[in-house]
Amino acid sequence: MQKNILIIGACGQIGTELTFTLREKHGRDVVIASDIREGNENLVGSGPFELLDATDYDALEELVAYYEIDEVYLMAAMLSATAEKFPMRAWNLNMNSLFNVLNLAKEKKISKIFWPSSIAVFGPNTPKENTTQNTIMEPSTVYGISKQSGERWCEYYHNKFGVDVRSIRYPGLISWKTMPGGGTTDYAVEIYHKALSEGVYTCFLSAETNLPMMFMDDAIRATMEIMESDSEKIKIRSAYNLAAMSFTPFEVAASIATQIPEFKISYEPDSRQVIADSWPSSIDDSEARKDWGWKSEFDLEKTTSEMLKNLSN
Ligand SMILES: NC(=O)c1ccc[n+]([C@@H]2O[C@H](COP(=O)([O-])OP(=O)(O)OC[C@H]3O[C@@H](n4cnc5c(N)ncnc54)[C@H](O)[C@@H]3O)[C@@H](O)[C@H]2O)c1
Repeated sequence: MQKNILIIGACGQIGTELTFTLREKHGRDVVIASDIREGNENLVGSGPFELLDATDYDALEELVAYYEIDEVYLMAAMLSATAEKFPMRAWNLNMNSLFNVLNLAKEKKISKIFWPSSIAVFGPNTPKENTTQNTIMEPSTVYGISKQSGERWCEYYHNKFGVDVRSIRYPGLISWKTMPGGGTTDYAVEIYHKALSEGVYTCFLSAETNLPMMFMDDAIRATMEIMESDSEKIKIRSAYNLAAMSFTPFEVAASIATQIPEFKISYEPDSRQVIADSWPSSIDDSEARKDWGWKSEFDLEKTTSEMLKNLSN
């Protein structure tokens, strides 16, 4: 039997590509896109779209009943840099949208949830290299605190009420279809746009800030793979570490310069540097590899060539 899917926050950086990919796979009418705002025309025109505030439980419940939804992908959130400016709004959105979806599953109104966590669950006291699944987690940002709490609640709802919730700690995501929405790794998208349009880029992180990153195609594939896995394979019900590559602004600039030799980068670290400094440099994702067969495909070289090729078209 065909299962109907709801994507909440479908107009964002990840939601847009996830909506297109799920529609390609399952059919356009099976995948309902929703967001608090209307996103790009291609997305809104590619299948059913509804305006929805993820913090409004009654509206969500009504939408789920109307479309007979089985699976929810909750992509609405306030990201790291913006959340530092609006702590209470971030907490309200990030936590209450999650509770709404978890409670729908607890009430057996939906059967499966995807909710993304982040490398922001780690903090300044976490070992930085090859950060393992279970290590010191003392996040120092509003966003990180909300993601860590979210992970605890996901595991609790799974253990206590049998809710089938699955989650990944995404690293910084690099994509060309949609601009990022206010995170600390946004520089790694902006840099490609500026390299092509202006040939210069001023980076808001320092040259040597090494962070875990992933190309969007890998992130979407990971999301689909964890959701399609048999339930008994998903042993971790908080969120899985996930990795592909790590690089610094200096390294991504050098990789762009192999194709655009005149490209110049300068550095003016701002408040986002403090957030970046609190996060790991590289991630050990062996649990995801072991439990549900995760394997990344995009390294920096392949990412740069995809980004420059698609953005110049
Ligand atoms: N992009 C990354 O690098 C990254 C890394 C780690 C984790 N994540 C997580 O992945 C998820 C999606 O991230 P993204 O980068 O696509 O974010 P984004 O900011 O690009 O998109 C979020 C979307 O949610 C929508 N939204 C905001 N408030 C809403 C509300 N009340 N109701 C409904 N929709 C609302 C926004 O309009 C936006 O379209 C988030 O949970 C984020 O924390 C992202």
